[in-house]
Amino acid sequence: MNRPAVSGATRLAAVIGTPVRHSLSPAIHNAAFAEAGLDWVYVALEVAEGRTPSAFEGMRVLGISGLSVTMPHKEAAFAAVDDLSLPAERMRAVNCVQLLHGRLIGHNTDGDGFVGSLRADAGLDPAGLSVVVVGAGGAARSVIEALGRAGASRVAVINRTAARTLDAASLAGEAGRVGTWEDIPSADLVVNATSLGMGGVGLPIDASLLRPNHVVADLVYHPLETPLLAAARAAGARAIDGLGMLVHQAAHQFRLWTDAEPPVAAMRRAALDELARRG
Ligand code: ATR
Repeated sequence: MNRPAVSGATRLAAVIGTPVRHSLSPAIHNAAFAEAGLDWVYVALEVAEGRTPSAFEGMRVLGISGLSVTMPHKEAAFAAVDDLSLPAERMRAVNCVQLLHGRLIGHNTDGDGFVGSLRADAGLDPAGLSVVVVGAGGAARSVIEALGRAGASRVAVINRTAARTLDAASLAGEAGRVGTWEDIPSADLVVNATSLGMGGVGLPIDASLLRPNHVVADLVYHPLETPLLAAARAAGARAIDGLGMLVHQAAHQFRLWTDAEPPVAAMRRAALDELARRG
C-alpha cells in the first residue's frame, strides 16, 4: 500500500445508492488507488431515490471525477447524463459516470465486467459459445447484452416470469432467444443471474442437468460457493464465482476514470478481505 497522503490535490470518486453502507466498492477502489499509487479516494454517499439529478449536479459543482451508480439510481442516471456509451444506451441504465471536460458520460460496466471475469478467471472467450442465462433482471440483462456484443453464438434466456424473457433475450441481438431447460445439456456456459443462492439458499436449475463440459458462472457472491457452484463442481463442471464480475466491473470503472491499468488482483484481494471481515 503506497497511497499518498490526502492533499489539496486529492481527487474524489464515490458510489451513490440507497442503502449504500454495505457496498464493497469503497474497499475495492481504495485498494486499487493505493496499489496504483494514485492520489484518489473513494467514498460511499447515501443518496435518496429521486435525487439522482441533484447528485449529478453536485458531481459537476464539486468536480467529483468518477461516480459509481447503484440501486435505485441506475435508470434515473441513464436519463440524467450528457452522453452515453453503447452498453449504457442499450441497457437504458448507467452504473458509472465520468466527468470529462465538464460533461457527464454514462457507462454501464456490469456486462463487460462479467465478460472480463470469464476471460481472466476462466480463460474463456464468449465468441462462438452457446450460453444459457437464468434470470431476466438488471444483472441478467447486462450479462446478456455483453455476451451478444462479445460474439456468443446463442444466448438462451430462462426466467421465472416469462413475460420479461423475450425483452431480455433481445439485448443479445441475433444470438438471443427465449430458452427452455432443454437448452442446458448442450450449452457451453450456464449463468445464474437470479438471486437464488444468496445466503447459501436456493438452486436456480435442476442439478441433474449439469455436465462435466459445462462452465457454470454464478453472479451471486455471498457466499462465494453457492449451492449451484457446489453442484457444478460435484458434476465435474468448472465453477466461476460472482466476485469476478464485481471486481472486473470496478476495474473497468477504474480504467475509465484514471486512464491507468487496474490492479485487478489487489482489487479482488480487497473484496475478499472485506467479505471475510464481515463474516
Ligand atoms: P438484479 O438487479 O440483481 O438482477 P432483479 O432485477 O430484481 O435483481 O432480478 C432478479 C432476478 O432473479 C429475476 O430474474 C427474478 O425473476 P422474476 O423476473 O421472475 O422476478 C429472479 N428471481 C428472484 N427470486 C427468484 C425465485 N425465487 N425463483 C426464480 N427466480 C427468481
